[in-house]
Amino acid sequence: MDKFVVRGGNPLLGTIKVSGAKNSALPCMAAAILTGDELILENIPQVRDIETERRLLAAMGAEVDLGYGRAQHRTSIRCAVLSDPVAKYEIVKTMRASSLVLGPLIARTGIARVAMPGGCAIGGRPIDLHIKGLEAMGATITQDHGYLEARTNRLHGAHIVFDKITVTGTEDLLMAATLADGDSLFENCAREPEVSDLAALLNAMGAKIKGAGTSTINVHGVAKLHGARHRINPDRIEAGTFLIAGAITGGDLNVDCCNPAHLGALIAKLEACGVRLNVGNDHIRVRSGGSLKSTSISTEEFPGFPTDMQAQFTALATQIEGTTTVTENIFENRFMHVQELNRMGANITVEGRTATVRGRTPLESAAVMCSDLRASASLVLAALVADGETILDRVYHLDRGYEHFEEKLRNVGAQIRRMGDVFSKK
Ligand code: EPZ
Repeated sequence: MDKFVVRGGNPLLGTIKVSGAKNSALPCMAAAILTGDELILENIPQVRDIETERRLLAAMGAEVDLGYGRAQHRTSIRCAVLSDPVAKYEIVKTMRASSLVLGPLIARTGIARVAMPGGCAIGGRPIDLHIKGLEAMGATITQDHGYLEARTNRLHGAHIVFDKITVTGTEDLLMAATLADGDSLFENCAREPEVSDLAALLNAMGAKIKGAGTSTINVHGVAKLHGARHRINPDRIEAGTFLIAGAITGGDLNVDCCNPAHLGALIAKLEACGVRLNVGNDHIRVRSGGSLKSTSISTEEFPGFPTDMQAQFTALATQIEGTTTVTENIFENRFMHVQELNRMGANITVEGRTATVRGRTPLESAAVMCSDLRASASLVLAALVADGETILDRVYHLDRGYEHFEEKLRNVGAQIRRMGDVFSKK
């Protein structure tokens, strides 16, 4: 398994480019199931989860072409015939977002067989709200040997109030409602930019969606959708990770090709810490303003502070004078990075859903273990300021959601290299 070797100490200097958003690309690729025409998606990040999604769709009979070379961020997908509408366990077990095909499959074919996602490092992550919503739209869903079997003649519109705000739950039902008979009204929806990005694609395919990006969404079902071309949003979590990389290393970094409007909560917290940010239309320059002051965070649904930035902010807090409290409200087990950071010399205690970070503690190199995507990013950030060479194991977690992470960081001065067989490019 690949490892990273990181020697700390270099401030990051220069411009670093942000790729397309993994969490937009995945639902947008699943949306291809809703039509037999070709879908062309641009700004698709080259990360492992996209490769997994390609395999998932191809196994159902879809033609999926992940562009390479000059077209390496363009993907064309055609689901003319879905000969085998099954999301197989071998694939679903590696990526929970596979459950995003449930709604589109049942809406397009009237039948779907989707492996139930198992446990996850960051929490239980059930999909009961997806199932409940599809049942309200007329699907019959049964469980069979670890698979969900869903059937319907045709879905119908429904009034659904989500018990809890769920991103992929909103996306799954939104896709299902586009081909349903009649109108759907969704309330307490997720307002994440990824939901708006998906809705923009669906409307370009001929859907009739209003209100995406707000907590109330209306969908007027149509009989058929057609092909479209769509450019995926920049990845706000990758952009946020680079902002913290610039701040924690005391660097001067221009984070380019991002959308600052998607980063409001993080920008506010970094400025409250004393980080200097110059915000442009599609870029943010970050410079750390000398000694930073502690500011506590509490993760919320968008537009609140994103849970996917919590681990990275926790790493920054180890380098800030004073006590920072970090409260995780979205997932019940998202502090896997804490013990690894403490192994590097941090002073963090966890009580229930709150971590208390006492800083500033000089970090030292150690052998650490990656456990999930964002926890891994926080360990790389810590290693960039640690004294000595840190060895990060199981970086396949990072490859799931960060495109060419180590190359991008090396190009702005980080001393980081990958050990083991390189992440294979076809
Ligand atoms: C999406 O996951 C993202 N993944 C996650 O990013 C992100 O952390 C999360 O939203 C929250 O922002 C993708 O978009 C592919 P949720 P999702 O459903 O949709 C509970 C990353 O690092 N819930 O909004 O799975 C759930 O357990 C990943 O890129 C139910 O109880 O998250 C959680 O506590 C990690 N029943 C809360 O809701 C349901 O049916 C929010 O989860 C669905 C969710």
